[in-house]
Amino acid sequence: MKRLEDKVAIVTGGAAGIGLGCVTRLLDEGAFVAMIDLDERRCLAASRQLAAEEGRLRTYVADVGKEAVIAEAVRNAHRDFGKIDILVNNAGIVRPWKSTHEVTEQEWDQLQAVNSKGVFLSTKHVLPFMMEQKSGAIVNISSIAAILSFGGISPYHAAKGAVRAMTKNDAMDYAKYNIRINAVLPGFVMTDMVREELETLYPSYEEGLAAATAAQPLNLMGQPSDIAAAVCFLASEDARYITGSDIIVDGGYSA
Ligand code: NAI
Repeated sequence: MKRLEDKVAIVTGGAAGIGLGCVTRLLDEGAFVAMIDLDERRCLAASRQLAAEEGRLRTYVADVGKEAVIAEAVRNAHRDFGKIDILVNNAGIVRPWKSTHEVTEQEWDQLQAVNSKGVFLSTKHVLPFMMEQKSGAIVNISSIAAILSFGGISPYHAAKGAVRAMTKNDAMDYAKYNIRINAVLPGFVMTDMVREELETLYPSYEEGLAAATAAQPLNLMGQPSDIAAAVCFLASEDARYITGSDIIVDGGYSA
């Protein structure tokens, strides 16, 4: 029997990067997975990549920042699978890389709409199903940006700090329904998001990669599978005594 056999998991932003790593690992551990993502093209590519999992994976194109849209996607996932046991709030964006006085109101709102409000909305619409069944596990992907500063990226820090704080509040509020809510704080993980940032912030991608790798005591870049391992642990019964907690997965960067 696999650790997450017959559990039903929703992963937001599941069509690429860390989200896709989580989808892949959840499927490997026996779960059925509803992948929610804004990008239809990426959803198609991801479901082709995971074609062997046909029947256990469904995709839903939706923007986590829009309440009516995400509510409908969650309802559809529940209709298609019959229950929701696990929610991985992963969808996120990183731009703009700007300090506070340079950020426009629109840029601020755009980032919070995905990274912070998106977590609120997905959680809000999944919780009633979990409360009804009196069980569930929610894992929020925050960031080490919630606990330390990179500088020059204030909207992102604000959003990731909000997600970490919301995790702790929600863990207290929903423990009585046997719903556990935890956060994972990744460091530098090799995804499109990080590739783009390294290309932007350094003279070349290769230089950026060397600098980011050397900044980590383990001298390693993280992979989506490293984050997925922590997510699946927190989602499983192995973590039955853990709620309101963080796991930092960053190669020692924040140590
Ligand atoms: P990514 O850019 O590679 O993938 C993000 C996925 O989310 C994409 O498939 C994208 O289409 C989807 N998405 C974006 N906006 C969306 C929306 N409004 N609604 C639904 N889906 C949406 O990003 P990556 O690197 O995999 O990041 C995933 C999460 O991990 C983010 O929350 C990010 O902030 C967090 N994180 C990433 C780190 C890294 O080093 N890559 C480090 C710390 C945290």
